[in-house]
Amino acid sequence: MSAVFDLFQGKSVFITGHTGFKGSWLAFWMKQLGANVTGYALAPDHENALFDALQLEGDINHIVADIRDAQRLEEEMQKAKPDFVFHLAAQALIRKSYAEPLLTFDTNVMGSANLLNAIRTCPSARALVYITSDKCYFNKELNRGYHEDDLLGGSDPYSGSKACAELVFQSYYLSYFKDRENFGCASTRAGNVIGGGDRSHDRIVPDIIRAAERGEAVTLRHPDATRPWQHVLDPLYGYMVLAARLYDGPDEINGQGWNFGPPDSSMRTVLDLTQGLTKMWESVEINIDRPEDAPHEATLLHLSIEKAKGALGWSPHYEFDQAVEKTGAWYKAVMDGKAPKDMTAAQIQDYMDGVS
Ligand SMILES: NC(=O)c1ccc[n+]([C@@H]2O[C@H](COP(=O)([O-])OP(=O)(O)OC[C@H]3O[C@@H](n4cnc5c(N)ncnc54)[C@H](O)[C@@H]3O)[C@@H](O)[C@H]2O)c1
Repeated sequence: MSAVFDLFQGKSVFITGHTGFKGSWLAFWMKQLGANVTGYALAPDHENALFDALQLEGDINHIVADIRDAQRLEEEMQKAKPDFVFHLAAQALIRKSYAEPLLTFDTNVMGSANLLNAIRTCPSARALVYITSDKCYFNKELNRGYHEDDLLGGSDPYSGSKACAELVFQSYYLSYFKDRENFGCASTRAGNVIGGGDRSHDRIVPDIIRAAERGEAVTLRHPDATRPWQHVLDPLYGYMVLAARLYDGPDEINGQGWNFGPPDSSMRTVLDLTQGLTKMWESVEINIDRPEDAPHEATLLHLSIEKAKGALGWSPHYEFDQAVEKTGAWYKAVMDGKAPKDMTAAQIQDYMDGVS
């Protein structure tokens, strides 16, 4: 097994947002690697959440608490004595951010500041991977991928909050962490993740799966929007590679931003993704409905991954078709009666065999 995977065995790993889609995959994977996992997040807010399907509650130190509660977060982090911290907790939905901008800014900006502040008083922490988003870049509808030093900004509350979270990170790094001994931190911007088990509202893959289960049509609002689709294991592996580098001695990579996007061939439209997935369920029809009053969403979003490839030796393992196939296979196997835990463990093992 790769040295990156060995590193987490027996280590204390603190994950915020462990009840969410990416957080559940990460907590499960870390558990498989032998880490002692503490998760800090709100309870899942929808039915059939992956967190519940994977029965993670009994396997980790599961803390249901709010990232906006600075004191509780500090106390729980001190109790957990983490070696590694992965910060994923966020209000992560663009459309919800239009409906609830203050909640979005409070969670994504002040919640992230609380996390950084808790690390200040937590001497055990050696590496922080701080997850923001590809949406943190000011979107100019460019044909090229955004680089890590491109302008930050956002024309919707979610994107703006993630750009702000980047500024908060930079200021904590420069003020408190730059010269801290035995500690390294990095911010990460991944693309649109897909994978088995996502059941969130208002996301394209869960919408397709619900349509397939009910034998209904799926409706697309932005069929032509291009996104950097990637299988969830690819950015999570990127976070692990980064955490390992920061743990070993952060040197020149400390305090920087990193894109973990898919290969260029995965910059595909919402319609491409939908057609790829619905092929597995012949009953699912696709409707296009472009409401005139739909809130703005960027049409084109690419990420450059040259920096992570060059400096970390990380590159995405799955092309678009494989990411779609792995995603569909997960749901199909679970619909056919396979245990979510077994399917998730098998896909993780397959991934680790492939990258080792
Ligand atoms: N899903 C994607 O395509 C994508 C793309 C780029 C970046 N991201 C970022 O990755 C991270 C994880 O995304 P996800 O898809 O798993 O999101 P998700 O919505 O599935 O999960 C969000 C998690 O944050 C927690 N959370 C929300 N508000 C909280 C609060 N006030 N206090 C404590 N916990 C709170 C939730 O309980 C949940 O555990 C987020 O920061 C998101 O912005 C996601």
